Amino acid sequence: MMEACNLVTVHRVTGAISVPRIIRVRSHSPSTETVYVRLLLGQTPKQWEEAAEALAVALRAERVGVERVRPQVIALVVQRSEPFTEVIVPPEIPADSEVVDLSRVYLGETEHGTDWCAPLIGQHWLIAGATGSGKNSIVWMVLRACAPLVRDGLVRLHVVNPKGTELNALRPVCYRYAESDGIVEVIQGFWETMQARKRVLAEQGRRTFVMSRETPLDLLVVDELGAVTGYGDRSLTRGAQAALPLILSQARALGGSVIGALQEPTKDVIPQRDLFSLRVCLRVTSAAHVDMVLGEDMRRRGALADEIPNVPESAGIGFVVRERSRTPVRVRAAYCDDSDVAELVRVAGWPVSELARTGQG
Ligand SMILES: Nc1ncnc2c1ncn2[C@@H]1O[C@H](COP(=O)(O)OP(=O)(O)OP(=O)(O)O)[C@@H](O)[C@H]1O
Ligand SMILES: [Mg+2]
Repeated sequence: MMEACNLVTVHRVTGAISVPRIIRVRSHSPSTETVYVRLLLGQTPKQWEEAAEALAVALRAERVGVERVRPQVIALVVQRSEPFTEVIVPPEIPADSEVVDLSRVYLGETEHGTDWCAPLIGQHWLIAGATGSGKNSIVWMVLRACAPLVRDGLVRLHVVNPKGTELNALRPVCYRYAESDGIVEVIQGFWETMQARKRVLAEQGRRTFVMSRETPLDLLVVDELGAVTGYGDRSLTRGAQAALPLILSQARALGGSVIGALQEPTKDVIPQRDLFSLRVCLRVTSAAHVDMVLGEDMRRRGALADEIPNVPESAGIGFVVRERSRTPVRVRAAYCDDSDVAELVRVAGWPVSELARTGQG
């Protein structure tokens, strides 16, 4: 096989064929394998990268990624199959708040055929992916779970939507919402809410947050986190840059969660990466983005997020890292179409004015 892919060397004089040695094979998931190979003298990782497509054909794999491990050793990340060939339909919105379990929010499925769930209370989520990769579907899924809680005043939505698209459907059910002007106010307002919460918890003599009408879960959704903290307008980024790290580091214990979407991992966001307990890497445009989002070695262990085809059929597919074993898992978010979104807005529909009237603002 290596011979067919031009990855062997032939001795000029003796004609002896040298074949690269396979050091070990690891499988971290049902759909991928990592094959560690020692390069032959004179070979470069680049040669293997160029042969990746031929290798995939030869191995009858969907695709092969090449990772540099150390000088002379590379890892071939072989994705055997695509476990997700169909769109996943979201479950019904629960009718009652009582049955919603925010310690286990259903987001979609894993490649193991199990539910992909994540805790929301006291957690922050980072969703990275190129344009059209399906970042919104994760936001919609968590909001579907939260819809009855929003209606009942147990969850408040703070939404920052710099692009002004899609998420504007949420405007009627948001506690605070901003597109361009007012973004800093929403973020700083969120931080002030958290500080006020700290005082309330102290007065109540509580050390931990319990979700209630008096102390609702405040959820800050920031679409385009990069625009807000990184390459956006100066005055905007400075205000947000000051408040966001404080929110990320302190809000957890106070009933504040942040969900940030990101097209490209930037230097400004990545230092705060570890403050996000759930990080999702959907299709990205560069191999380097994968480890920036998921953590060191995750691409080598199988998270070929940069190799997810840029086609609508692949939207919502990505990787998360299973914390205990530090292995990447391929996941697919369920897809909320326009009517699913309209339904969640209808269920959540508690007008902002009512919140103000009852003095919960
Ligand atoms: N989970 C999913 N399953 C199947 N298709 C999906 C899924 N999520 C999104 N799509 C499809 O992909 C399209 C783009 O999704 P989405 O708007 O969420 O992208 P995005 O990552 O937010 O992009 P942008 O950065 O441009 O805002 C959707 O209009 C839909 O057709
Ligand atoms: Mg989007």
